[in-house]
Amino acid sequence: MEKVEKYIKYHGLLCPNVMCSEDSLKRFEGFNMRDDDVIAITYPKSGTVWMQEILSLILSGGDFTTVHTIPNWYRAPWLNSVPAALVLENKPSPRAMVCHMPYHLMPPSFFSSQAKVVIYLARNPKDVLVSSFYFHQMANFLDDPGTFDEFLEKFLAGEVFYGKWTDHVKSWRNNDLGDRILFVTYEEMIKDLRGVLKRFLDFLGREMTEESMDQVVSHCTFSQMKNNAMSNLSMVPRDVMDHEKSSFLRKGIVGDWKNHFSPDQEKKFNTAIKQEMEGINAEFPWDK
Ligand code: A3P
Repeated sequence: MEKVEKYIKYHGLLCPNVMCSEDSLKRFEGFNMRDDDVIAITYPKSGTVWMQEILSLILSGGDFTTVHTIPNWYRAPWLNSVPAALVLENKPSPRAMVCHMPYHLMPPSFFSSQAKVVIYLARNPKDVLVSSFYFHQMANFLDDPGTFDEFLEKFLAGEVFYGKWTDHVKSWRNNDLGDRILFVTYEEMIKDLRGVLKRFLDFLGREMTEESMDQVVSHCTFSQMKNNAMSNLSMVPRDVMDHEKSSFLRKGIVGDWKNHFSPDQEKKFNTAIKQEMEGINAEFPWDK
């Protein structure tokens, strides 16, 4: 594994040093998945912390104690990050975790069991780009994004953490996981969080009272999570994430790209993404 300034390269993917080390990536490869593990897969800036919150509450059966007392990175750790494998090893089942890796780089134990439950959360890449642009300004462990135009070029070239958006989405869409995977979009969650929560519960074979569902939806709104120190990453030291520059939970809306893209940038971006997504067997709400 090659070290490149702020990153460690894992099979060509840029993984931030602050999250990943040679040791954490080796542990990731040898990770022992359990049959009842629940994994949410995301490309960065697609709503990972949102999934951490919802999964924590689903697996606790609507008990809010942990979401008010334990930071999200302990509740539902990033699988390939520094303390994750150790934290997870000692956790009782069922365990929730999140991961930014593409499909083909998942550890062998992920493939050897039939029981892994995976939720793939996708988001309009133009909104991902905008979110990532601000994240690169506040996260000192990432490269300076430069101008929006420069960052757009880097994003399209995949010279950003966890590589190209199109490669990530394609890798998870073209899989043979059958009914072990559920596809959801950020846009669907914004539109109807309760409906999506119900889909999660059905998919995971879990039940929740109507009242608990209402409470979970209310707790997982953007404003609630933004004010919850256990969910908003405000406890991360300032030299790692500078919340004065931009909040981690920044805007939490659909379509902020319209405030950032020029017509030329939009055209260029759409053409590049469309070309690379050709032939993919999926419909996304932002394409309609
Ligand atoms: P914005 O920067 O557009 O606001 P990730 O966790 O994958 O890094 O994604 C972060 C993005 O998800 C941020 O987008 C953040 O605001 C958004 N997000 C997190 N929790 C949310 C919630 N409860 N409702 C809406 N958006 C949320």
